[in-house]
Amino acid sequence: MTVAASPLREYLKAQIQRIDAELDRLAPPEDAPPAVIHRAMRYSLFAGGKRIRPLLCLESARAVAGEDPPEIHAVAATLEMIHTYSLIHDDLPALDNDDLRRGRPTNHKVFGEAMAILAGDALLTLAFEVLGRVGDARLVRELASASGTVGGMIGGQVFDLEGENAQPTAELLERIHRAKTGALLRASVRLGALHAGAAAGQLDALSRFGEHVGLAFQIVDDVLDVEQDSATLGKTAGKDAEQHKVTFPAVYGLAESKRMAEEQRQQAHACLQEFGPRAQRLRELADLIVERQS
Ligand code: IPE
Ligand code: IPE
Ligand code: MG
Ligand code: MG
Ligand code: MG
Repeated sequence: MTVAASPLREYLKAQIQRIDAELDRLAPPEDAPPAVIHRAMRYSLFAGGKRIRPLLCLESARAVAGEDPPEIHAVAATLEMIHTYSLIHDDLPALDNDDLRRGRPTNHKVFGEAMAILAGDALLTLAFEVLGRVGDARLVRELASASGTVGGMIGGQVFDLEGENAQPTAELLERIHRAKTGALLRASVRLGALHAGAAAGQLDALSRFGEHVGLAFQIVDDVLDVEQDSATLGKTAGKDAEQHKVTFPAVYGLAESKRMAEEQRQQAHACLQEFGPRAQRLRELADLIVERQS
């Protein structure tokens, strides 16, 4: 059976539609003044991302609660807002200087650099407005620290930029990847778990799961940058080598990188043992993260 025809594919499509509907509900409409910023935010939000982070959040909540806790879709949407903001800024000329994202010209190519910076800022701000309405300070703190400078996404982006002029060592690589990508993936799982009322042991197991899938996710991102074509990726392939990025293939080579992604997948699965069948979708998401082609 091909993936295209699989029940998982159908299931994910329905979940993604629901996530997209929530993002559409939460983002200001395109004609709300000042219209241009709302057009810029929506341009990148609805460009066809895989929605991995909100999916992890939803399935983590379901693994804990066995059902959807109230407002879980709003919580999940905030992860996609932060992620999309990070992509808009990652693509700016001052950072990775990319022209293509999610199969379209990058935000600054369409709206100009000033508006792209502001659209990123606006998505970041909106995420916290939404979490503020949900009203659980623990979620606000989790999302802020995962997006922040100490072991979080911004800190990781700084290490990533500094790494362009540094010796690619295993230590630097792990530091970059845990922060720039791993932290938000871990937070995706943790927000879902916290919102579903996870016990300390459950939260701990799911956090470790999030760390393993987070690392696997960026290993695969690095491998795809080498092996995949731009049309399939929806972003420019081969950029990492060109920009002397510290990546898994640069440090370990392709074959070893793939082996390491597989190892992370297995370790991720092992963290879910106590959840039994309730965590089946989380297991499938971990598989998807490692097996994806884009
Ligand atoms: C790409 O993330 C950027 C990284 C953190 C590696 P995704 O591969 O999740 O991108 P979208 O959301 O599907 O476009
Ligand atoms: C970006 O990592 C991580 C972010 C925090 C956005 P990359 O620079 O590898 O992401 P891509 O490959 O451009 O999507
Ligand atoms: Mg980057
Ligand atoms: Mg980039
Ligand atoms: Mg990349």
